[in-house]
Amino acid sequence: MVKISSKFVCRDCGFETGKWLGKCPGCGAWNSLLEERVTKDSNRPLKSAVEALPLSRVPPTDIYRLASGMKELDRVLGGGMVPGSLVLLGGDPGIGKSTLLLQVADHISRNQRKVLYLSGEESPVQIRLRSVRLDIDSELIYLLSEQNIDLLESFIEEIDPDLVIIDSIQTVYSDNLSSIPGSVSQLRECTARLMNLAKQSRRIFFLVGHVTKDGALAGPKVLEHMVDVVIYFEGEKNYSFRILRGVKNRFGPTDEIGLLEMSGQGLREVVDPAQIFLAAKDPKVSGSAVVASFEGSRPLLIEMQALVTSSGSAYSRRMASGIDQNRLALIIAVLEKRRGIDLSSYDVFLKVTGGVFIKDPCVDLGIAAAIYSSFREMPLSRDTVFLGELGLSGDIRSVPFLDSRLKEIKKMGFKRVILPHGQMKSVSAAGGLNIQEIRNLDD
Ligand code: TYD
Ligand code: MG
Repeated sequence: MVKISSKFVCRDCGFETGKWLGKCPGCGAWNSLLEERVTKDSNRPLKSAVEALPLSRVPPTDIYRLASGMKELDRVLGGGMVPGSLVLLGGDPGIGKSTLLLQVADHISRNQRKVLYLSGEESPVQIRLRSVRLDIDSELIYLLSEQNIDLLESFIEEIDPDLVIIDSIQTVYSDNLSSIPGSVSQLRECTARLMNLAKQSRRIFFLVGHVTKDGALAGPKVLEHMVDVVIYFEGEKNYSFRILRGVKNRFGPTDEIGLLEMSGQGLREVVDPAQIFLAAKDPKVSGSAVVASFEGSRPLLIEMQALVTSSGSAYSRRMASGIDQNRLALIIAVLEKRRGIDLSSYDVFLKVTGGVFIKDPCVDLGIAAAIYSSFREMPLSRDTVFLGELGLSGDIRSVPFLDSRLKEIKKMGFKRVILPHGQMKSVSAAGGLNIQEIRNLDD
């Protein structure tokens, strides 16, 4: 017997309940529960098509990886695309997701592999226009404007592509559900179907996902849990610089970032990150300090800019872009308490150059130096890099991956490094750099 019932699903967190509520008990969001119909066929026989296997009988295979043609994307993927995997690429509209994937499709097709590009957002003519701009002209890239996921399987069988691109997951739908494309159950159902298709074959699947205003992937968090890899494509639309940020990867490290640049002819790898992260070098400007932050598996030299101005109102402002607001407050508190400076009647603004968001705590010392420099109107020497985490008592804590940070510092032509005391014992690559070890802020 086929039973039809109703349930309410939160569009933010996927929480399910039998009756409508104003506030989701799962995530606390207001007015986020949407009604969905569930069809259950109790006559369907339960019989699995697969059998349970002992671990020793599962044939060992190496994961081999396909190059995407973009080294920075391969880096975020953990070394290339893994056949049989499902990658979710999220990002704001207009950031360049379709451009990136069309370029990947081009690279794959140059190696005599077929690509199926399902586009629910743009017509084949629009994609063709983009491909002309990117100088892509391939017999092996198939465009499909069918958005019914139930029909996708037959297209895949017919064309037999190595790479399948779904642009975007919010536009495809399954006939099994009555809800509209982009609803929570459609998203879940379609992603699960695609995951199945990926696992059964050796094809690579890329899904494009939209993000909401606050930067999370539209649709429930369960979407992220279902897929193998989640990558966010970020950047300011007014600038050409873009960051690929891996947030989940079943085949490699997470937190890896890739640096790309949007040009007149599509996306390019950033050859010289210094142009983005190290702003103009004016030796007379105070409030600027260079740090070596570890992002994913590589060190990046980034400039921290601070501006300390006396505040007009009783309420002084602290504003940070590129680091957590609370961390700025903490560093200011340590500076006040341990260095005896009073910033209570000053506004403090902090900006990380290049638009990256830094979590690495070892940039603390650089931030403190930038704030102090701006407060005292004392420019810091432009050939110095600051390394170290700040303890609450004003002590400078040790820095991991010091060797590769120092290598990068040397490569970029800096002369002097200020770092935590006692760390140089374990380092081999200091040659030529003027190292100054410090114990605390007073030093
Ligand atoms: P697009 O890939 O359509 O973004 P998304 O799929 O994430 O919505 O990229 C659109 C933007 O990129 C658009 O503003 C035009 C710009 N662009 C370039 O600057 N250079 C190019 O070569 C291409 C193809 C697009
Ligand atoms: Mg697009």
